[in-house]
Amino acid sequence: MTIYLNGKFMPLEEAYVPVLDRGFIFGDGVYEVIPVYSSRPFRLTEHLKRLQSSLDGIRLTNPHSEAEWTELVNEMIACNEEKDQYIYLHITRGVARRDHAFPQPPVAATVFLMSSPLLYPPAALIETGVSAITTIDNRWLHCDIKSISLLPNVLLRQQAVDAGCAEAILIRQGKDDTDSFMTEGSASNIFLVKNGILLAPPKNNLMLPGITYDVILELAAANNIPFQVRKISKQEIFNADELLLTSSPKEVLPITTVDGKQVGNGKPGDMFKLLHDLYQNFKREVMRQP
Ligand code: PDD
Repeated sequence: MTIYLNGKFMPLEEAYVPVLDRGFIFGDGVYEVIPVYSSRPFRLTEHLKRLQSSLDGIRLTNPHSEAEWTELVNEMIACNEEKDQYIYLHITRGVARRDHAFPQPPVAATVFLMSSPLLYPPAALIETGVSAITTIDNRWLHCDIKSISLLPNVLLRQQAVDAGCAEAILIRQGKDDTDSFMTEGSASNIFLVKNGILLAPPKNNLMLPGITYDVILELAAANNIPFQVRKISKQEIFNADELLLTSSPKEVLPITTVDGKQVGNGKPGDMFKLLHDLYQNFKREVMRQP
């Protein structure tokens, strides 16, 4: 497997990062996950825009221009035989003596890219849906930054796995349940469907602005699917007709059980089926464009 590290493409086995890298010591960095279909990156401009916003959020200068990133991503794609892959892109504040404050003068950022085969969710999961738990969103207040400091997300996702579930739906606690609201999943965005209306939590500092989230809302708008972007209370999750999960690798998946209870009739619903088909068609169309 070929990866890219700090200016060179090389075999994975030869890639090393010094132990004083601030990514290793402090989790001081940001990342992106970019799906690639038919050897073409999907929504690359949007991923690079979010990368810039994450870098701004941690006050780290972007080491590359958009044109340089595009070239690097395309070279990384070409190193791999699989036509459908995902590119993992990771930047840290570089290697310096351990001190919480930024190195002065700044040191070169560490830049790492790798590609992995894109493993689509098995057809059975699309047929039956996945299960989720709800849990307290105990992360920081900058969840819009795609930070490599993922320990809270790791622990939350493991809580779901320990419960035999695929995802943890995160709830910011208010005074009581009516005042508590859903933010997102531990590694996905979450949508709710009630009475034929698609509901999405508003983008803010408490959730990652998902690239797939945007595609879903664009598809809803273009296809006259009624939707609202608004705060979603914890109670609404348990009265939902459908719950959907979205992310670049998983695309869109139905959540059919939450905290051991059926969502709606316990089967993937009409909104899921419609959005899933629209998403697949949209992908095919985009990939056909020159
Ligand atoms: N995660 N929210 C969180 C917390 C995420 O980690 C992700 C994706 C999303 C969905 O974003 P997008 O649609 O842009 O993939 C939302 C990636 C896939 C990961 O960490 O591997």
